[in-house]
Amino acid sequence: MKEDIEYLKEEILKLKAERNALILSHNYQRDEVQDIADFVGDSLELSRTAATRRCDVLVFCGVDFMAESASILSPEKTVLLPELNANCPMAAMVTVDRPRSIWKSFPGYEVQPSLIYPVEFTLRDMKRLHPDAPVVAYVNTTAEVKAESDICCTSANVVKVIESLPDEKVICIPDRNLAMWAQKNTKKKVIAWDGFCHVHDRITRDDVLKVRKKYPKAVFMAHPECRPEVLELADVVTSTSGMLRFARTSSEKEFIVGTEIGLMHRLKKENPEKVFYPLRKDMICPNMKKITLKSVLRALREMSHIIKVSEEIRIPAKKALDRMLEIS
Ligand code: 13P
Ligand code: SF4
Repeated sequence: MKEDIEYLKEEILKLKAERNALILSHNYQRDEVQDIADFVGDSLELSRTAATRRCDVLVFCGVDFMAESASILSPEKTVLLPELNANCPMAAMVTVDRPRSIWKSFPGYEVQPSLIYPVEFTLRDMKRLHPDAPVVAYVNTTAEVKAESDICCTSANVVKVIESLPDEKVICIPDRNLAMWAQKNTKKKVIAWDGFCHVHDRITRDDVLKVRKKYPKAVFMAHPECRPEVLELADVVTSTSGMLRFARTSSEKEFIVGTEIGLMHRLKKENPEKVFYPLRKDMICPNMKKITLKSVLRALREMSHIIKVSEEIRIPAKKALDRMLEIS
């Protein structure tokens, strides 16, 4: 088994050099995928890296919208998503103009009854209802939706993005929890879309109270994709890389980690003297875990799956991403 992993790593490194490729990994990827990557980060850092680092090929170890963003920002690079069905269900909860049911449109998506989420109300309907409010699109959206939006944001900069706009009212899509958290931190009116991340949204207040009772000295860090009643109990609300920064610089020794468990790997690696407890061990994003060392190697060997956004969508979507990158 160990030999297998060593063999896969060697082959990946060899092909990576031949193809002049860069491997990017989100903080939620499997430990061994993070370890082989050239850069590991949150959505904002990954967008920045994709836009600025020189290479011919970008192997994106994350979910579909992240690879799309890389293609939007760097059309001259070949962007590969090692598993085509690594999708973000939340990104699929908002469509531009075609009402549809997610589980019918996403054949690779593992259907759980609680996740069947019919999109009957579209982004254009929302814009018609609030013609004077610009659209702030979380990067967890499709390229098509970004193209229809005014500016993008990530969990690391949502408030800064909203504050940067001259308007008093904004539409925030697709995460209702992120929108509600932003609303708590700005005087502007935030109109929320009713989407959610199934990994974070299922965490309850009781989950937090239970872990806090077990580890009374631990600092609780939560991701803004959690519900408001969970965030109320948090000591720090921030993005995945925000948690890494906080843990690194804090004088505290114990932390409860309120996000996908993939982040535990870096937290432990970068802070061997500190202790990290997952808020719930089943905070696992199945889509993030679809990518393996085997699929990274296959992606480099077969140069697949290429993610390419059409120019018609790319140009307006890039405007929304660039606008975000300029202010953060
Ligand atoms: P960040 O890493 O930007 O905090 O995003 C979390 C996430 O859910 C990405 O899908
Ligand atoms: Fe999407 Fe949630 Fe998975 Fe992030 S953790 S990719 S928001 S489903």
